Amino acid sequence: MFSPEGPSLRELAVQALSSVERGYDLLAPKFDVTPFRTPDSVLEATAAALHRMGPFDTGLDLCCGTGAGIGVLTRVCREQVTGVDFSAGMLAVAREHAPDAGPPVGWVRADARALPFGPAFDLVVSFGAFGHFLPRERPELFAQVHSVLRPGGRFAFPVVAPARPGSLEYWMLLGFDAAMRVRNTIWRPPFVMYYRALRFSALNRELIQAGFSVEFHPLPEFGHRRDGSPRVRLVVAKRLA
Ligand SMILES: C[S@@+](CC[C@H](N)C(=O)[O-])C[C@H]1O[C@@H](n2cnc3c(N)ncnc32)[C@H](O)[C@@H]1O
Repeated sequence: MFSPEGPSLRELAVQALSSVERGYDLLAPKFDVTPFRTPDSVLEATAAALHRMGPFDTGLDLCCGTGAGIGVLTRVCREQVTGVDFSAGMLAVAREHAPDAGPPVGWVRADARALPFGPAFDLVVSFGAFGHFLPRERPELFAQVHSVLRPGGRFAFPVVAPARPGSLEYWMLLGFDAAMRVRNTIWRPPFVMYYRALRFSALNRELIQAGFSVEFHPLPEFGHRRDGSPRVRLVVAKRLA
């Protein structure tokens, strides 16, 4: 999973014993060679799906990290693209890798739970970050996204189908989350990172409560599970006028 250029076990341990923000500051220089960065295949499929819905004028990559989603936004937005993250280390790497072509890109250091923007965006995307928010924090997170979108603007993010109960993946994710819960009970500051996939029904309900209409678009590039359901979907939540 980790290449030789990636973080050592010791580095990962120090990061996991820090806060989320500090942990990412430490991981930032090697983040792009870890499996935590969103794979290009997911970014490509998302860009293709958004391209069919666009174009958009202004885009925000929420929890942008080193900028994985910025390339998606520069392909589908015409005027301005912004990346927001609370880790200064991740933003510093993102700035170095900013695309030269396309609309101008700006970077803002802020907590996603208190976004410092008015309703300025037509499109908000987010990749690989929801595991850092407790279920009870999601309604406020979605309310924040709603508040920075223009009426009719869209909030889009890919979601992998939850692991089938009893499968190897299911037990591995359950084991990881259990280990994180133990870590967070006995160690401060907490490191919130829970891997069990989000439930579509909960997402749907919470987004509707935040003032969105919601669509789930299968991403055909990732195929289907044995029961016929798509492996990966793009959630597209539209801010009601
Ligand atoms: C797993 S990384 C994903 C980065 C990037 N989106 C990607 O797909 O490669 C999660 C990112 O979320 C950021 N993050 C976590 N909680 C945050 C919060 N409350 N506010 C802002 N950023 C946050 C972290 O700093 C980190 O850069």
